[in-house]
Amino acid sequence: MKKKIIITGGAGFIGSHVVRRFVKNYPDYSIVNLDKLTYAGNLANLKDIENEPNYKFVKGDIVDIAFINELFAAENPDAVIHLAAESHVDRSITNPLDFVMTNVVGTVNLLNTAREHWKGRYDKTRFYHVSTDEVYGTLGEDGMFTEETAYDPHSPYSASKAGSDHFVRAYQDTYGMDTVISNCSNNYGSFHFPEKLIPLAINNIKQNRPVPVYGKGENIRDWLWVEDHARAIDVIFHNAKSGSTYNIGGHNEWKNIDLIRLLCSILDKKLGRAEGESAKLITFVTDRAGHDLRYAIDATKLKNELGWVPGITFEEGLEKTVDWYLANEEWLNDVTSGHYQQYYSGQYNDR
Ligand code: NAD
Ligand code: TYD
Repeated sequence: MKKKIIITGGAGFIGSHVVRRFVKNYPDYSIVNLDKLTYAGNLANLKDIENEPNYKFVKGDIVDIAFINELFAAENPDAVIHLAAESHVDRSITNPLDFVMTNVVGTVNLLNTAREHWKGRYDKTRFYHVSTDEVYGTLGEDGMFTEETAYDPHSPYSASKAGSDHFVRAYQDTYGMDTVISNCSNNYGSFHFPEKLIPLAINNIKQNRPVPVYGKGENIRDWLWVEDHARAIDVIFHNAKSGSTYNIGGHNEWKNIDLIRLLCSILDKKLGRAEGESAKLITFVTDRAGHDLRYAIDATKLKNELGWVPGITFEEGLEKTVDWYLANEEWLNDVTSGHYQQYYSGQYNDR
């Protein structure tokens, strides 16, 4: 079946993997990548598919109502896969309003336009909202987040994502629109902007710069290979029942300090350094305000209902990720020049 899909945030980390997957796997679909190209958006992430006949890039802001209306009128999409967001917790602590604007207001703009544009054919259209496990708050030492866990966000980022999730459900329940939500754990892989833990640590170790560990490094995250996430989105988009929610995770919990030590050891080998050399860069810094202790996803529903399981192990994924950053020096240099230098020059003080 031919479909036109607007993918928002397609120039970002996860979005670029989703766009690539849909463009390559579904030659009959038309994929429109709508992205504002903030500091986190980068068309270099999509160089390999930019000339494909079923792909088109449109620069624009989801907060701009008039623009979103015009885009829907011009493209007449059958579906939206919504990834555009401000995505970094530390930046949300410094600048919460940006997160309310893009993550809440931007999402409601898209929903509203879709509601009007798709009136009378909600059964033939779909609004897929990509969200995070951070909406569930924090876990103690035990337990996992399921789709039934109550929302309890703590950071301005997770509060804004929780708000957007509630609006998506409200549009399903109030207007009868077809919506689907997935809540995913921390992703890692290629094209990840080096403000997040794994790419930041790889970059800093490579450059012989301090690797900042917040607090004691005892916080736990559940890491998921980004291409496994893109595959889960594909499976859910095509098979989920209207109004359903799925958690996506890799069953792969790591204490931050253990993960950073592992990266140091991998990079010692790859960079020809003596074992233990890179670990000397580990620097404990002031903890993040409101730092959630532990995230862990129970992805049983996705496995049982739609057959999705992670495709690769963390060892394989981390090795591939480190190799990718070492092989793509130009990409890394480009994204860490200019604004990035300014942002991180007074680093560790904003939390
Ligand atoms: P990212 O920061 O790498 O990319 C976000 C993209 O959105 C960028 O290309 C940016 O230019 C675009 N964007 C931002 N504001 C916009 C606006 N107003 N209008 C149009 N485009 C805009 O983020 P990511 O890590 O790829 O995350 C993608 C989605 O997945 C987000 O919704 C995020 O909340 C969610 N998520 C991310 C993770 C993770 O580990 N990275 C985990 C779970 C969920
Ligand atoms: P991050 O990659 O920002 O993702 P999130 O906050 O959305 O989980 O951070 C992952 C974990 O790593 C989190 O516990 C905070 C910690 N962290 C550090 O210790 N040092 C860093 O420089 C960064 C960016 C994160």
